[in-house]
Amino acid sequence: MQIAVVGSGYVGLVAGACLADLGHDVIVVDNDQEKLAALQGGEVPIHENFLPELLARHRGVRLRFSDDLDNAVRASSAIFIAVGTPPTEQGEADLSYVESVARGIAGAINSYKVVVEKSTVPVYTCDWVRRIILRNGGHAEHFDVASNPEFLREGTAVTDFLYPDRVVIGADSPRCAAVLREIYAPLTDGTYYLRPEAIPRPDRAQLPPPLIVTGAKSAELIKHASNAFLAMKISFINAVASICESVGADVQQVCRGIGTDSRIGPRFLNPGIGYGGSCFPKDLMAFRAVAREYGYDFRLLDEVIRINEDQRQRFIRKVRSALWTLRGKRLGVLGLAFKGGTDDIRESPAIVLIQSLLQEGCQICAYDPAAHLRAREALGGAVMLVENAYDAARGADALLILTEWEEFSSLDLKRLRAALRYPIVIDGRNLYDPELMAGHGFTYYSVGRPLVSPEPLAPAGVAPSERKSSLS
Ligand code: UGA
Repeated sequence: MQIAVVGSGYVGLVAGACLADLGHDVIVVDNDQEKLAALQGGEVPIHENFLPELLARHRGVRLRFSDDLDNAVRASSAIFIAVGTPPTEQGEADLSYVESVARGIAGAINSYKVVVEKSTVPVYTCDWVRRIILRNGGHAEHFDVASNPEFLREGTAVTDFLYPDRVVIGADSPRCAAVLREIYAPLTDGTYYLRPEAIPRPDRAQLPPPLIVTGAKSAELIKHASNAFLAMKISFINAVASICESVGADVQQVCRGIGTDSRIGPRFLNPGIGYGGSCFPKDLMAFRAVAREYGYDFRLLDEVIRINEDQRQRFIRKVRSALWTLRGKRLGVLGLAFKGGTDDIRESPAIVLIQSLLQEGCQICAYDPAAHLRAREALGGAVMLVENAYDAARGADALLILTEWEEFSSLDLKRLRAALRYPIVIDGRNLYDPELMAGHGFTYYSVGRPLVSPEPLAPAGVAPSERKSSLS
């Protein structure tokens, strides 16, 4: 099928490349000339597994880049809107880019088209897109508007697209649903997975993925509710981790105990320094705002957000409790990205924490496998960026682990200890076994687990159980 994807950000670019891999002819439309030139010239603007391969495979063949929305709409049977929906100051989603694309589409519709919302948008956006197209000259019989939410995670976006847990199509007419069914048929009938050149199957993928067809409003809600639920799961376990710290329990043991209940499941139960990224923080606020607009005060979401913010404060308190005063202290930091596997630092808890610690007068030397360029833009010259974990640790009063990059979980502990001025590690992602760290001579702070140290931590006479609660 001939498809247009409007917007070449994370979602648009990944969707465009993956739709081409399914066998469709795709035009990705963007009005940013610099970005277009880079894409046409073979650059890959984001750090994403398998994306370079897909772009190289399809660029100029089944995947083209253009600034001509009119032509792309005329040539296509389906037009995916994948432009940004940034938050307004009130926390609502700013839909002005979506509206302007809808206006642009209206003028170019020349035969039946399906206009597909791919960006994360609040409920009723499909209705509005429809109204805008009608207002701008579109004829009702020439188009339908559908919602087809995307559940991709940064870092694994390509495999998330091609091996999804489910494909959700929100369409209010059978004709519209049929177009989307056809687009995803290679996934839902399993034929894509038989191709020798298919992107390799990740662990856990169940094939073929189920197709869920709903009304447009339900699909819009599925996206917001999914992200809100996942964020709630993270805040829930972070709250449990805080209780564990108070009573001297181990949150990893608690996670295992609750995550093995198949109704709960073990994923997204990793405690840490709170969720970040371009999706959860923004989507939670937008979901809360839209719920309020339609008369429901979704206070559960307020609490999810509050716990998330509190988690960062708790981490700063740990740094303080490890180092006493902060001014002039030298800290090694591992991780700048909002999570492992990406160079994205938007709403990164690591960046927020670094900014607080700089304000407290700390000197910071940091390493991230992918996010230096972007971190430099956000932090300026205030932080020294180095090329590996051991250089970040060199001469530091303590090492902070802020992003769950896989390579941070298998460091050479002897070398790390030798590099640090004091063997203190404050791990915001629970990457290490506390006993192992103590065995290597570290004082090791983590989240929701007892503090361990090779040396006595409290004055003689303080019982171990009291020591363990010192972080609460
Ligand atoms: C998230 C969702 O997981 C995707 O399904 C969704 O499509 C996407 O938002 C979106 O709306 O576009 P993403 O933001 O890429 O994906 O990142 P996640 O892997 O969900 O992680 C979000 C944050 O939660 C990160 O800061 C991560 O470190 C944190 N996290 C995640 C935890 O603290 N604990 C966990 O157990 C899992």
